[in-house]
Amino acid sequence: MQIRFADSRPSGDYALVIPLAGKDRASLAGLGSSQQAVSAALDRQRFEGDPSAASEQFFDDGGTVRRLLVVGTGAAGTLGDAAEKLGGTAAARLQTSGETKAVIDLTGQGYDADAAARVGLGAALRSWRYDRYRTKLKDNQKATLDEIVIVGGGPDAAGRYETRWAPVVEGVSLTRELVTEPANIIYPESFVERVRASVDGAGLEIEVLDRAAMEKLGMGALLGVAQGSVREARLLILRWNGGGSSGQPTAFVGKGVTFDTGGISIKPAAGMEAMKWDMGGAGAVVGAMKAIALRKAKANIVGVCGLVENMPGGNAQRPGDVVTTMSGQTVEVINTDAEGRLVLADAVTWVQRNYKPSTIVDLATLTGAILISLGHEWAGLFANDEDLAAKLQKAGEESSDKLWRMPLGEPFDRLIDSPIADMKNVGPREGGSITAAQFIQRFIENGVKWAHIDMAGKAWSDKAGATYDKGATGFGVRLLDQYVEDVLER
Ligand code: BES
Ligand code: MN
Ligand code: ZN
Repeated sequence: MQIRFADSRPSGDYALVIPLAGKDRASLAGLGSSQQAVSAALDRQRFEGDPSAASEQFFDDGGTVRRLLVVGTGAAGTLGDAAEKLGGTAAARLQTSGETKAVIDLTGQGYDADAAARVGLGAALRSWRYDRYRTKLKDNQKATLDEIVIVGGGPDAAGRYETRWAPVVEGVSLTRELVTEPANIIYPESFVERVRASVDGAGLEIEVLDRAAMEKLGMGALLGVAQGSVREARLLILRWNGGGSSGQPTAFVGKGVTFDTGGISIKPAAGMEAMKWDMGGAGAVVGAMKAIALRKAKANIVGVCGLVENMPGGNAQRPGDVVTTMSGQTVEVINTDAEGRLVLADAVTWVQRNYKPSTIVDLATLTGAILISLGHEWAGLFANDEDLAAKLQKAGEESSDKLWRMPLGEPFDRLIDSPIADMKNVGPREGGSITAAQFIQRFIENGVKWAHIDMAGKAWSDKAGATYDKGATGFGVRLLDQYVEDVLER
């Protein structure tokens, strides 16, 4: 999808999109002599301009019949969020309509450069789809729309889109691609290669540790998870040095379980295919790193992905096994399905030993329990620092990747003590997301600010949203990107 910006409506064939701020019909003025007829049709459709409501009509545009999409933006129609919804709604409605080009006319509606650019952002994000394996699509199921022109956002809208939001589209698209691909295609090695190709030229430094390297470092927790699979584990590190030489970097760490069968503590068959997206945290980290690099953020960031496949097999780890982590702490593996925290334990230790980050934010599709707590609306946020938590929550509101704060504390920590090792990898069923977070916290070294985001309910959606179709959402990319802009680029 091409997003372009222009001063005035072009000539030729296209569908016209007009925003309508609630019941205010002023934006129809640009329809000339058809204005009355369109307004009458909206009345008969009981159209009230609610956010994302859409009315499709055809009107006489100076002698030619043109498709018209009126999209409601609600009363606060030009704010960023509403602007994204407008673009997203237009893209969703017109993508397979047969139209190849759409013009969204914002003229006179008070959209500043950023709001207009975010109309483009919403449209680009919502039109992402992955048809690689759909070889028998009927003609009328195929996307036709390939160009959206946004008119009336002023002279700076195009530049704002290119420098601030097009990189985010690139990052989110990479994440969605990785999350969507099945586990026979994306496994630790191929994840690394897909990312390498995708970020080529963006200026990221890439480092990859293979099994032998991780064995040498004593990463027994991560490797214990991987040992049942014929796919070798990898640690992928992406480094962005946009902030000059001073100061400690911020680290983003992602859980990258390319498929989670549960291992010997195997999951039930029904729905297990969903576990191809158990690498959504790692997907978000690489997508965010790509976005941050493309927009040349003035910050120093290191992104780390712990990549493994969790399989049963003759060499798989057993319940009761004790593994030694890179930190030196030992873990009794009670349940091989609580694997994400084992991967993250070694990944956060590695990044602390190698980069001395001041702050670590980890993202993981870590627990089913977070779905019981928060459903699909929020990801859970755990943090050892109030200020970091507040800043992440603010970035969450701004980016629509929303976070709900969850508690941590010593009484929960006690629940993962083990009689044979330093800790066990599961607590009781109750508070399962919290004990999982406590486990990771045991690997955070003194003085390091840390936040953990349990996004098990957010990587994938069964229904379409304003800026995504059903399927991979790209959750986390915009959150991290916004956090970098709000906090690290000041
Ligand atoms: N990847 C799962 C968590 C998950 C579950 C993500 C459902 C998305 C949807 C994780 O590795 C897992 O299996 N967690 C277990 C932990 C339990 C064994 C303590 C869970 O949540 O059941
Ligand atoms: Mn699991
Ligand atoms: Zn998992």
